[in-house]
This record gives sequence, C-alpha cells and structure tokens, in this order.
Amino acid sequence: MNAPHASGYASTYARWRADPDGFWREAARAIEWIRPPQTVFDASAGPYGRWFPDATCNTCFNALDRHVRDGRGGQAALIHDSPVTATKASFTYAQLLDEVSTLAAVLVDLGVGKGDRVIVYMPMIPEAAFAMLACARIGAVHSVVFGGFAAKELATRIDDARPKLIMTATCGVEPTRIVEYKPLLDSAIEMAGHKPDSCLVLQRPQADASMHATRDRNWRALVAAARANGRRADCVAVAATDPLYVLYTSGTTGRPKGVVRDNGGHMVALAWTMDNLYGVKPGEVMFTASDVGWVVGHSYIVYGPLLQGATTVLYEGKPVGTPDPGAFWRVIAEHRAVVMFTAPTAFRAIRKEDPQATLLAGHDLSHFRALFLAGERADPDTLKWAEAVLKVPVIDHWWQTETGYCIAGNPMGLELLPVKHGSPSVPLPGFGVECLDEGGKPVPAGTMGAIVLRLPLPPGALPTLWQDDSRFREAYLTAFPGYYNTSDAGYIDEDGYIFIMGRTDDIINVAGHRLSTGGMEEVLASHPAVAECAVVGIRDALKGEQPCGFVVLKSGVDLGPEQVERELVALVRDRIGPVAAFKLALTVARLPKTRSGKILRATMKKIADGEEYAMPATIEDPTVLGEIGVALKGRGIG
Ligand code: COA
Ligand code: AMP
Repeated sequence: MNAPHASGYASTYARWRADPDGFWREAARAIEWIRPPQTVFDASAGPYGRWFPDATCNTCFNALDRHVRDGRGGQAALIHDSPVTATKASFTYAQLLDEVSTLAAVLVDLGVGKGDRVIVYMPMIPEAAFAMLACARIGAVHSVVFGGFAAKELATRIDDARPKLIMTATCGVEPTRIVEYKPLLDSAIEMAGHKPDSCLVLQRPQADASMHATRDRNWRALVAAARANGRRADCVAVAATDPLYVLYTSGTTGRPKGVVRDNGGHMVALAWTMDNLYGVKPGEVMFTASDVGWVVGHSYIVYGPLLQGATTVLYEGKPVGTPDPGAFWRVIAEHRAVVMFTAPTAFRAIRKEDPQATLLAGHDLSHFRALFLAGERADPDTLKWAEAVLKVPVIDHWWQTETGYCIAGNPMGLELLPVKHGSPSVPLPGFGVECLDEGGKPVPAGTMGAIVLRLPLPPGALPTLWQDDSRFREAYLTAFPGYYNTSDAGYIDEDGYIFIMGRTDDIINVAGHRLSTGGMEEVLASHPAVAECAVVGIRDALKGEQPCGFVVLKSGVDLGPEQVERELVALVRDRIGPVAAFKLALTVARLPKTRSGKILRATMKKIADGEEYAMPATIEDPTVLGEIGVALKGRGIG
C-alpha cells in the first residue's frame, strides 16, 4: 500500500534532486485518490506553485474508510490515555469511522459544508480528533486552537478564520486545575467581530457549562440523535489543493499567521515520512506526546499514524506529575508503542525529577525502537541522557508549523545515519536547505548564516497564509529571492549536517511552544503605566527559554513598580494565555538603545544569560547596560 522504499538516504535524496516530479509522483501512489494526479506540480499557481493541482481526494477516507475496507476495522486506531482523569479508551478503525461519520452528519445538519471553517477549541480527548476528521470528511476546513490560549487570542483567530461553527468542550484538565473553556469561548465570541452560527459543546464530567439559548448546541445529544436516526455523512471529494486546515502560529506581531495545509500534498508527505523517517508500519503504535493544538499533534497524533493504518496514542497528561516522571515509560510499555515523539523540554522535566530514570524499572520497553524530539533545539546533554536510559536511537528533527513535517532529520526508516549531537542531521527529500549570508550568498561549511529552503517547497508545506498571499510573500519569500526564509539561524557542516541555533526574528521557544515577544510587548505597552518595553527570551534550564519583560514606567505613575509588575504578569496571562509562561516583568529606568533608537534586545539577552557580550558600537549610552545587569541580578538572573 505504501510507496516502495529506496535503498538508503543518499540515493533517495539524489533521486528526489534529479527528478522531483517523478519522486513525488511515486510517493503519491501511497494515497487513494478520487481523481489521481496527472500533473504533479504547477509552478504557475499560487505564490510559488501548487502540488497535484488536478487531483481530487478525501483525507478522512484515506485515514479511516480505506483501512476498514481493507480489513483493519478491528484494529485499534486511537487510544486515549488520560492520567489526569484516570480514564483510558480505545477505538478501533471501525469505531472511529462510526464516530467520525456520525459527527460529520451533525456538522452537515448544522449547515457546515465544503470550504466552511470550523474552529476546534478542545482539550486532549478523542472528540478533538473526531472533530478534525469529521471536518476533513465533509471538506470543511478545521482550525484547532490550543487550549492554553486566552480568549483574546481565540478572538483574533475567530476574526481571521471566520468560522461557521466552533467545536469545544466544557473544560480541559490540567494537573492542578480545571480550565473552563466555555467562559473563554463566550468572551472570545463577545470580543470578535465575526460571530459563528453555532457552537457544539461537549459536556465533560469535570465541568458543566451554561449554554447560550440559541447559539450553543449539545454535542452528545446531537450525536446520539444522529446515531438513533442512522445518520452518517459520506466523504466529499475535494481538490488536492483545497485546504484541509488552517493552523495559526506566532508571527512577528501580535497577529498570528494562518498556516494553510492542503489535502493532497499533506497526505503524500505524511505517508512518506511514516515509512521513511519514523519507520512505523501499518498496525504498529506511535505515541506522540504533544497537543492537537500544535502542528506536531496534527501531523503525528492524528493524520500521519491514521493515514498509515497505525495506532495512535492520544495522551492527556504531562511528562511529570501525572502521576510521576515514569508516565511516558508506562504509556510506551502499556500500549506497546514502537516510536515516541515529544519535545526535548519534556525529557528535561523527566530528567530533573528522576535523574537516574529509576522509574523505568519494571516497564517492558523491548519493542520500543526510537525516540524522536522536535519543537526546539535538542540540547546534547538531554539527548545523551535519553540515549543512555532508553538505549535506542534518539533522533532530533527540525521542523516548523509552516512545513507541517520534518525538514531535517535522521531518516531511520530509510537508514540510520551517524548521529551528531546538537544537529537534527540531514535534509529530507523535498527540502533543499542552504545557509546564506545577509546578502543572500552561500556561506562556507561551518559558518553561521540564515537557513533557507530553495523553492518550491515540497508537498505538505504551506502553499500560502490563509487569505493572505501578500503576507506570505513578504514574510517568507522576499528576504532571499528564490528561497523560503525559515527565520532560523545556524550552519551546515562539511558532511551536510544542519545545526539550528536560534531564530533571527522575535520568536522565542518556551517549552516547545512558539511565542512572539513582539506580541507580548504589545500587551505590556497597553498597560497605562508603561512608557516603553522590551521582551526577550532568556535561558531557562527546563523550558529552554522563558520570556522576560523590561519595562520603563511613565513618570508620575501612582502605582509602585511591584504592583505594575504583578499587573503585567496577569495581563499577559489574560491576553495571551498561561501558555506564554510570562512570569518575569522588571521595571528599569531606561532601555539600552542604539543612537538611532533601536532597542538592544540581543545584548540584554546576553546579559541575562550570563554570556560575554561586545559593547555595541552604536550604543547611545553604555551605562544603561550596567543598569540592566543590576536589575537582573536583583532577581538572581545573569
Ligand atoms: N489548556 C490550558 N492551560 C494549559 C494547557 C492547556 N491545554 N497546556 C498548558 N497550560 C498551562 C499550564 O497549566 C501552565 O499554567 P500555569 O502557569 O498555571 O502553571 C502554563 O500553561 C504553562 O504550561 P507548560 O508550558 O505546559 O508548563 P508546565 O510548567 O505546566 O509543564 C512541561 C512543563 C515541560 C512538563 C511541559 O511544558 C511539557 O510537557 N512540554 C512539552 C511541550 C510540548 O509537547 N510541545 C509541543 C511541541 S512538540
Ligand atoms: P513550531 O512552528 O512551533 O514548530 O516552531 C518552529 C521553530 O521551532 C523552528 O523555526 C525552530 O526555531 C524551532 N525548532 C523546531 N524543531 C527544532 C529542532 N529540532 N532544533 C532546533 N530548533 C527547532
């Protein structure tokens, strides 16, 4: 059923380079199309071209129906393991198809059709996956919003996506508290200019929600009624280039970018990675500990494993504290996962609490083949620790929400290449990765530069931003003509291994979550006592980075600095959400600036990280840096 394996990495990559169309035409055979592609790539469509422009397909059909038809109906498709609610559930492919096609019928009854957007604001429960697949089934475009975002962020996404329907649950369950979603949703709808026709609300036992008389509909009641009436929705044919989903990710301002994923290219790319990168075969179990609100959750909790006919584990819990740092080992052993995928921060958390990995004892991991890490740089220390305790390959791989899957990784399914700690290894076929200087010239091996991808991007990567081709061009294609700018900086060594060292824009990475410091600055600046501010990501042993806000207060402000700092922390939590992990606001008398007025954020970061820094030649007043150092030392930083 899947595209045949090529022998090894080098020959596969060379084959792609020599004939990209032929390579992807062959990979496309893994997918069951309604109208198979005649043309593989149309360079004249979209900002840089479109994949499989004349094909039609349905993603849900490939994820569910075809497996049931081909005899996998009795195999587990999705296992929900929820230590936070002390529940577990398993759905076979046949059961998942039943759930999804019934829910899809409910969506149709609520007036949702092909091309309509549906926002999914859900915790890590099976219904979140049902919702995504039900949308895919009827050609609606889902947009999942992570539960840790606040109402304001949700409102921004509502206004951009203009959904017909919002699907939600009454709450998420965090280890220390119940997060009620419904009040957040209600206030987001209140704030948004666009109003959805209806909201489908799943009542969870942990929290009830008051229902809006006309807008809110009871999820369980409507599904039960549809089931009683034998209502099921069939798969709708969509163009391969039609959007499957829009996923918002932090941009360089408070306005998130709506990353568009198409149907056809996405399926082809994910199916290829299941075999050739992860080496997970049909019938095997993959455990991805992320959240359906992130791209990793879209690709490898939901779509990738299901397209492959594998079993996916949807885990509602944390790496530590639910109940202990042995949670991942238990899940791997109990569900017999062959591969796990998570963010390095999760392993830093486990290592901190159980440095000897004593909780591994008693768990049979003999079937376990590899750990994959992504979402942030995998620091060599954590990586080596994971290798030592798990005794399997630990594979760092680099991606972005925009690409939808791995740009560079160690392609275990093809062949395991030598590991270089600190490097996510080599580019996957489809990605021509180069390292350029500011003028757009390639730099020599081992020299830092901007990491860029030669156009066109491969199938599965974003074709554009939601209804904003011009922002797409400006954000990604203008800086280096002919290339997609990843906004990551790093270098490529003499063996072609890529090292990703950090971002070139204002994005920071907190516990594997991508956040815009510019967005946080907008929130701080909105406080009436703040004259100016700067947010930088400073080093954090657990989360990789944590945001630190420096603020200058207006003169004549009545409130004390501590009071303002407390209010600012609360404001970011309220406007962006707890996921921002903004806990550090520091009032300072002045911000360090260049003579042209540019705030020296990189230098402030170096001071906070206790790193050497060169005095910027253009600095307006060097003494300000000393003041920043003193303010940080006051909090035990730097
Ligand atoms: N809904 C509501 N709130 C959420 C949430 C959700 N889905 N997910 C996280 N939050 C809240 C947390 O409760 C926490 O709130 P608090 O400030 O009241 O404590 C805050 O957002 C920050 O959460 P998090 O970054 O998860 O930190 P943590 O301290 O709770 O846990 C780790 C630390 C390392 C265990 C955790 O970050 C982790 O598991 N990271 C893995 C990251 C990951 O999977 N990334 C996806 C990319 S692959
Ligand atoms: P996101 O879009 O949330 O997946 O975040 C993408 C960003 O996370 C990238 O641009 C990188 O800065 C960072 N990132 C993701 N994976 C890695 C990795 N393996 N190594 C280094 N940085 C990574």
